[in-house]
Amino acid sequence: MSNRKNKMKGIILAGGTATRLFPMTATTSKQLLPVYDKQMIFYPLNTLIKAGIKDILIIVAPDHSGQFLNLLGSLFKPYDIHISFEVQSVPRGLAEALILGENHIGDGNVALILGDNIFENDFSSQIKSFKSGGHVFAKKVTDPERFGVVKFNKNNRAVEIVEKPKEWISDYAVTGLYLYDNRCIEIAKKMKPSERGEIEITDVNRAYLKKKELEVTLFEGEWLDAGTPESLLEAGMIVREKGISKNFHPVLAKAIEEFNEELKIRSKKRLQ
Ligand code: TTP
Repeated sequence: MSNRKNKMKGIILAGGTATRLFPMTATTSKQLLPVYDKQMIFYPLNTLIKAGIKDILIIVAPDHSGQFLNLLGSLFKPYDIHISFEVQSVPRGLAEALILGENHIGDGNVALILGDNIFENDFSSQIKSFKSGGHVFAKKVTDPERFGVVKFNKNNRAVEIVEKPKEWISDYAVTGLYLYDNRCIEIAKKMKPSERGEIEITDVNRAYLKKKELEVTLFEGEWLDAGTPESLLEAGMIVREKGISKNFHPVLAKAIEEFNEELKIRSKKRLQ
């Protein structure tokens, strides 16, 4: 893998406790629940694979590591995509992924994506052309007070970020895909937990903003956050309507198809 040393690495955050989806998540990970006809984890995987990322670390909660291995452990064996796992013992916040992923990131850049975020857009060009600083993807919303929101200038540089603003600053929510250069590891390591006891990704973004190095891409396609029963159901319906799971990157689609075939063989053997 040495020829990939400086290539951008991917991280998917699939830990967390998913309290808003209790009791469904008492027995499995939120990211292994179905969104229409595929497990949720395949959607962020698709976003990264489409952008040519070949080394992907998945952060998982201790109870679910075996389930993730069953699904993804051998899925990409015939392909040039390498999946690894890191167990997050306690959900200490999104920014902890950058610390847990230190060795994985090495001395390159990283694309970090939330395991419960589904994007219709293809962000390959931004991911492939990313060089340095930080880069977030923002979407106009009607209820900005529910999100981390970003205000930006005419050059699409972020000038202010506020988490769940009480006073309006912008209609643009920061979504769950972040691109960072290697400095994000040191930034995350220096961070103190917030009032809710987590190290916050907003603070990583703020650190790049302070350096005037946080770029913002605005987009209009679907952004689905499948974290509540309502949004999970809605995500499934939109995925079906827009054919998102039918349009996965060919390598991912093929890998899933082959896995399905293998499952059929296994089930036949069991019946014999
Ligand atoms: P959240 O939706 O903020 O948290 P959660 O999944 O635990 O759900 P709830 O609020 O209902 O309790 O997390 C966003 C994504 O990040 C989700 O895919 C889980 C993941 N995550 C981690 O991997 N580690 C963490 O420490 C946290 C907080 C979240």
